[in-house]
Amino acid sequence: MKKRVLGLLLTAAMSLGMMVGCGPADTGKAPDTTGDTTTEQSESKTSDGSVKRVAVAMPTQSSERWINDGSNMKEKLEALGYEVDLQYAEDDVQAQVSQIENMIAAGADCLVIAAVDSSALVNVEAQAKEAGIPIIAYDRLLMDTDAVSYYATFDNKGVGTAIGKYIEESKDLKNTSETYTIEFFMGSPDDNNAVMLYNGLMEVLQPYLDDGTLVCKSGRTSFDDTCILRWSQETAQQNCENYLTGFYADEKLDICATAFDGFAYGCKAALEGAGYKVGEDWPLITGQDAELMATKNIIAGSQTMSIYKDTRLLADKCVTMVQAVLEGGEPEINDTEQYDNGKLVVPSYLCTPVAVDKDNYKKIIVDGGYYTEEQLAE
Ligand code: BGC
Repeated sequence: MKKRVLGLLLTAAMSLGMMVGCGPADTGKAPDTTGDTTTEQSESKTSDGSVKRVAVAMPTQSSERWINDGSNMKEKLEALGYEVDLQYAEDDVQAQVSQIENMIAAGADCLVIAAVDSSALVNVEAQAKEAGIPIIAYDRLLMDTDAVSYYATFDNKGVGTAIGKYIEESKDLKNTSETYTIEFFMGSPDDNNAVMLYNGLMEVLQPYLDDGTLVCKSGRTSFDDTCILRWSQETAQQNCENYLTGFYADEKLDICATAFDGFAYGCKAALEGAGYKVGEDWPLITGQDAELMATKNIIAGSQTMSIYKDTRLLADKCVTMVQAVLEGGEPEINDTEQYDNGKLVVPSYLCTPVAVDKDNYKKIIVDGGYYTEEQLAE
């Protein structure tokens, strides 16, 4: 009882703090960071006293990042007293539709969705809206729907720009008199993130393709020509094999500009098959997600860089959105312009992506507590 009263007083004090203008870090935060579990649990209950259910639909467990995303979300939501229904669709579009239908039927109070192919979810999202269930888009924008309340993601164009700048700086493209061969491996055409990444990347690299500093011998530089459905590692490997045999018999491939660690693994396998050697003629290979294997490959020299996306931070931001739709209040939003899904501009929080390579992985990844030295040494 005492605890509850203290919780209320603290919550009231916090609200007052907000009213008189706390710093930006406090503004818009969902209530109750007091540690008073009594208050937290009462907020996470429906009016009939039952625990509120948050259903989390994730795309696949085939890549490590989504496993981390799912477990972070579950842990953080459960710590706030919510019941969590976490499901993975294994990149099967229809399976995700059925999972979300079941989540609605099972009485979810809020849906968090990282789509496989968001165009397939429009009807099921309308059903959720009809049933009064708010939806938060997680990492991937939900297109063509007015049923989505908020979007938590990383700055997707920023990911592309960071990859482009990394290539630009590593090869000193601004000043060099050399030319470098490059091939592109871009993301899935049904994922809005993939196009944004491509646009950010090309904003940096297109001038060098235009002036001949970068040479793409396959001629495949457009998004349509380089996108890879469902982010398939196997397709990336096959494309790389085809490029190597078709266009690089007489000249080496210098740069694999890939949008995903899975693609970097595919390129690595293709390059090994074609006889390339790390430390000799191995190309610069980019990636995204800083998966454990990618980070190990960076240390070993078979991948050059990746984009570190702290999924713990993304989950934190998403949880504030869940709290806002379920308990009232305003979540933290830092972009109200870029993410137009065709029906509305979705209020978004963009986390900052960071380029990592062998020079800074210790500081960013190990010191940041993402992976330990032991995990990286295994
Ligand atoms: C995510 C990336 C991820 C890719 C493949 C994208 O939507 O933003 O972080 O690498 O999907 O899973």
